[in-house]
Amino acid sequence: MDKKLSLSYTTIALHWLCALAMLAMLGVGLYMVRFEAWSFYPWHKSAGVILLALMLARAAWRIRQGWLPALGAASRIEQGVAKAVHWMLIIGTLAMPVTGMLFSGASGHGFGIFGIPVVHEQHDPVHPGQVIPYSAAWAEAAQLMHAWLGYFLIAVITLHIAGALKHHAVARDGTLRRMVGAHIQSR
Ligand code: HEM
Ligand code: HEM
Repeated sequence: MDKKLSLSYTTIALHWLCALAMLAMLGVGLYMVRFEAWSFYPWHKSAGVILLALMLARAAWRIRQGWLPALGAASRIEQGVAKAVHWMLIIGTLAMPVTGMLFSGASGHGFGIFGIPVVHEQHDPVHPGQVIPYSAAWAEAAQLMHAWLGYFLIAVITLHIAGALKHHAVARDGTLRRMVGAHIQSR
């Protein structure tokens, strides 16, 4: 159970697991598209499908527990911005794997979990080596959403990290230390 002066191990573990996973997936996604690293694609898709389960567990935990109580003397506006950013991060972590699966599925490339197919590839019998989309319109829309949501999330995460560092270095209110497991002295 999260308390004002100390957070539960579940909150801390879920936060850092999801944070590291999201940063790695964003990095790998950008890298494989820019450098046409085709061998990364199955890995990116498999990890993304598995991560959706983790992200769902995390979102359910946060909704059940409620938002973390603010430490220090944050204004109502600052608290509102932090809450909006946290909502965007939670929704973004769910929307990225969903749009990825929608794109890979609809485009006919398919996806699976480390060799176990979830949506099969749809091969073109006339042009071997090419695939036929199940829905070209959905594939195009989902591809755009997956990419733009990724860029948007990078901006939101940057804002989130800047906020955490400001709490730590300027306000010195223990917000970051609480997220790494410290028990904060009452203030
Ligand atoms: C944790 C979730 C995920 C994150 C953070 C993520 C992030 C990204 C990013 C940043 C890109 C580069 C986009 C671009 O610059 O065009 C990308 C590309 C891609 N992702 Fe994901 N992804 C996730 C999950 C998935 C899943 C679950 C699938 C499919 C099952 C998937 C399939 C793809 C594919 C096929 C591309 C290449 C798109 C292209 O060639 O235009 N992703 N991903
Ligand atoms: C180095 C990177 C990061 C640092 C230093 C950091 C730090 C923090 C801190 C200190 C809090 C507590 C805020 C409070 O008490 O009000 C927090 C909460 C949160 N962070 Fe991060 N964070 C990082 C990366 C991420 C990433 C990559 C994501 C998701 C994509 C994320 C999602 C969240 C969410 C949703 C919360 C709300 C509380 C919760 O549900 O756990 N964080 N973060």
